[in-house]
Amino acid sequence: MDIAGKSAVVVGGASGMGRATAVALARAGAHVAILDREGSDGKDLATEIGGIFHPADITDFDGVEEVLAAAVAELGGLHVAVNTAGGGKVQKTLGRNGPHDLDMYRQVIDLNLVGTFNLNRLQALHMSANDPVDDERGVIVNTSSLAAFEGQIGQVAYAAAKAGIAGSALVMARDLGPLGIRVLAIAPSLFSTGATAGFTDEQVAPLVKDAAFPKRMGRPEEYAKLALAIVDNPMLNGQCIRLDAGQRFAPR
Ligand SMILES: NC(=O)c1ccc[n+]([C@@H]2O[C@H](COP(=O)([O-])OP(=O)(O)OC[C@H]3O[C@@H](n4cnc5c(N)ncnc54)[C@H](O)[C@@H]3O)[C@@H](O)[C@H]2O)c1
Repeated sequence: MDIAGKSAVVVGGASGMGRATAVALARAGAHVAILDREGSDGKDLATEIGGIFHPADITDFDGVEEVLAAAVAELGGLHVAVNTAGGGKVQKTLGRNGPHDLDMYRQVIDLNLVGTFNLNRLQALHMSANDPVDDERGVIVNTSSLAAFEGQIGQVAYAAAKAGIAGSALVMARDLGPLGIRVLAIAPSLFSTGATAGFTDEQVAPLVKDAAFPKRMGRPEEYAKLALAIVDNPMLNGQCIRLDAGQRFAPR
């Protein structure tokens, strides 16, 4: 899909990989809406890239439906959705203080898996209203993690959620194929965003030692490049693409 002139929403677009993708989409000529939490940098970024900002909490499953509809109405349609809002909490299945807290488990699943799927079903609805261009109506890019495949100790909730995102890509692609909507996920290794951006070289070295090459954290712009390549290439569909410099996470 040619990005120029298309309408795109980046959920979680105020920071990190979402932010880099919003910037790259705008540079490529898309009209961009950033959805992110109230008080995030989304408003300033939207001004910077000539886009729009709508505050949203993706765990407010009903509220985000209205916010997305308002953003799509302002954009005049929706062709590209990149969903990066997410994050994890660490606890062992059974630790010194007892079994894993079930509410915490549910929170992580709600934020990452239910939150993403809720967006996807609504994004697909908006995309289905498009006139197809070269048979395509839309592209959805979700954010998984290497934790989906090699979750580390304490990542059981996050790994389950991100594996759910990875596993849903093919099914949603099959569900939405007749409408000309593609669905993919990106599974990044350790990327330099938010908290990790301040790590020293000494802190980073052990975390990336198992990468084949390059042995460093990924850069948000490298996620954005892959997201744009996915939008551009109609033969990419129904899979979760590792973006990991050949790294396989060790147990810890
Ligand atoms: N950074 C990494 O090493 C790494 C590795 C693998 C996967 N990931 C995943 O990549 C995605 C992006 O992470 P990042 O590192 O760019 O993080 P980040 O913290 O820089 O950006 C995440 C953005 O999502 C927003 N967000 C979080 N919860 C939200 C909610 N409930 N409603 C709306 N917005 C919300 C935040 O405000 C923030 O702007 C996340 O899903 C994360 O799990 C990150």
